[in-house]
Amino acid sequence: MDFIDLKTQYRRVQDSVNARIRTVLEHGQYILGAETVELENKLAEYVGAKHCIGASSGTDTLLIALMAYGIGQGDEVITSPFTFIATGEMIALAGAKPVYVDIDARTYNLDPKLIEKAITPRTKAIMPVSLYGQCADMDAINAIARKHGIPVIEDAAQSFGATYKGKRSCAVSEVGSTSFFPSKPLGAYGDGGALFTDDDALAKVMREIRVHGQDRRYHHPRLGINGRLDTLQAAVLLAKMEIFPDEVEARIRIGARYSQLINEAFAKETDPARKVVTPYIAPDCTSVYAQYTVEVADRAKVEQGMKARGVPTAVHYPVPLHLQPVFANLGQGVGSFPISESVGNRVISLPMHPYLTEAHQAQVVAALKESVQG
Ligand SMILES: Cc1ncc(COP(=O)(O)O)c(C=O)c1O
Repeated sequence: MDFIDLKTQYRRVQDSVNARIRTVLEHGQYILGAETVELENKLAEYVGAKHCIGASSGTDTLLIALMAYGIGQGDEVITSPFTFIATGEMIALAGAKPVYVDIDARTYNLDPKLIEKAITPRTKAIMPVSLYGQCADMDAINAIARKHGIPVIEDAAQSFGATYKGKRSCAVSEVGSTSFFPSKPLGAYGDGGALFTDDDALAKVMREIRVHGQDRRYHHPRLGINGRLDTLQAAVLLAKMEIFPDEVEARIRIGARYSQLINEAFAKETDPARKVVTPYIAPDCTSVYAQYTVEVADRAKVEQGMKARGVPTAVHYPVPLHLQPVFANLGQGVGSFPISESVGNRVISLPMHPYLTEAHQAQVVAALKESVQG
């Protein structure tokens, strides 16, 4: 069993992928070719944002957004410590200080109730992460940001395709940033990412930063990076977009089935040490389950048990960012963000992709029951 099965997906889209790649090989415009523009238009329409800017990764998109707002030395950006390293890393790489705020224990996303206390005159943005495929509480976060006159940059690397109150992730704040890393809900065959905004001026600046701060050929009014999306990756993504809405439906169905099977399997268990907590999806949200992640009391035992039963698992993420050696300079030791730390010790992700069969899901849940209770 694969943790994420990209081969079955390839078999489904191979005619379209191969044809799209062949077209690029024939026209030879490998950098910012027609497919990149076609994809940007398609993604902007899908998300419901005015502008889409294709980029080299979901890491570079975060940096481009921060640079576009001129965020750097002496500035602070509020974010979650319970995320992939890129979120805090790009804030620091831009020269600013990541100011971590603890998460909501049920959604694992930034807790809006804790944000206001962390705001200072140096706060220049809030960067919530839509972890595991579900948006943070964006209305509450946007309201706080509006009150303080600062932007919200959604790190939607894991939530492309998810909805929040009927709107699509990436279009629920001033800027949305996503990733097309191969294992993401919409994955390329290499690195890729995209930025979304309704703001014309900001879109222009982000587009320039993506290409060395260039506004016309060899003319550079600002600093930028080489942050472009390859035409070949855009071609792959265009082919995959044909099946993406269907895959999102499958993800939602498979996630719900997992929760039902797990809750049934553990219904009679009364000992909290032998229970499993399934994902909480807020009533006004859908999740695309970039990860299907549960909480267990004794993770090491469960990891071992699953491995012994031939079921691959992963941990997203074992060490919150404030406890990473690279952020030791922030001086926030164990106990600084108790919910992130306790969740980080308990979470475990199960195999998840749109082609997971009912039989495989039953096998995963049976292995989980034996591993937790055995
Ligand atoms: C929350 C989050 N932010 C940022 C990234 C970075 O994306 P990429 O791998 O495309 O650089 C990822 C993905 O790995 C992620 O999960």
